[in-house]
Amino acid sequence: MADSIRVAAVGDVHLGTESAGSLGPALATLPDHADVLLLAGDLTRHGTLAEGRVVATEFADIGVPVVAVLGNHDHHGDEQDDIAALLGDHGITVLEGGAVTVRVGGRTLGIAGTKGFGGGFAGRCASAFGERIMREFVSHSVDLADALRVALDGLRTDVTVALTHYAPIEGTLHGEPREIYPFLGSYLLGEAIDACGADLAVHGHAHAGTERGITPGGVPVRNVAQPVIHSAFAVYELPVLVRSRTA
Ligand SMILES: [Fe+2]
Ligand SMILES: [Fe+2]
Repeated sequence: MADSIRVAAVGDVHLGTESAGSLGPALATLPDHADVLLLAGDLTRHGTLAEGRVVATEFADIGVPVVAVLGNHDHHGDEQDDIAALLGDHGITVLEGGAVTVRVGGRTLGIAGTKGFGGGFAGRCASAFGERIMREFVSHSVDLADALRVALDGLRTDVTVALTHYAPIEGTLHGEPREIYPFLGSYLLGEAIDACGADLAVHGHAHAGTERGITPGGVPVRNVAQPVIHSAFAVYELPVLVRSRTA
C-alpha cells in the first residue's frame, strides 16, 4: 500500500479560447510526479462556455483523476453550471459543497471542495447586517463555508484535502494589498477546516500572495495560484498515517 499520496495542484490558469494545447507538454509529465490533480478555480478568463471547452479538453484524460472547484472568473458569464457539466462530461469532478474519494494504491484520498467566498478575516470581517445586498454577500460566504464543513465532516479517508478558490487564512495573502483581503477570502473557510481537520488545504485566487501558510488549528495551507507557484503545478506529498480506531 502507498505510504504517501502525491497531490498536484494549480489554480488560476485562466485559459482563453486561444489557449488550446498550451498545457499539454507540462501535463504530460504529471503522472510521473503525482497521483491526482486538484484545480483551485479560475480555470477560465471570463467564464464563457467556449473557454470552458478549452479547459475541459486540456485537463481530460491526463492520466490521473482531476478534481476541481470553480472560481469567480468562472462565474462571470453566468455559465458556471454549464461549464461544470462540461467538465464533468470530460471526466473532471467539479465540487461545490461536496466531496469525492479517490483511491490511490490501496489508500483513500478524500477531497472536499467549494468555491468559497470573501468577507475577510476575524476582527476585520463583513457582518450580515444592514442592506439586503450586504446580508446576501455575507450569507453566500457563510453558506459555502458551512457546506465545506459538512463535506469534510462526512469524509472517512486515509488522507483529506480541503479545496477552495478563495483563501481560508490571511497567511497566504501576504504580498496582496491589505485593502483587498476581504475580497480574497474568509476566515469562515478556515474555521470549517479546523473544525473537521484536514491534512492539507489548497486554494487559489490570490495571484500576488504567498504559497505557504497554516490555519490557527495547524492545517497546512497552500496558495497554488499559478502566478504564485511559477509552474504548471505544485506537488505536495501527504503521508498516510496509521490512525488508531476506537470502537
Ligand atoms: Fe484568478
Ligand atoms: Fe479568483
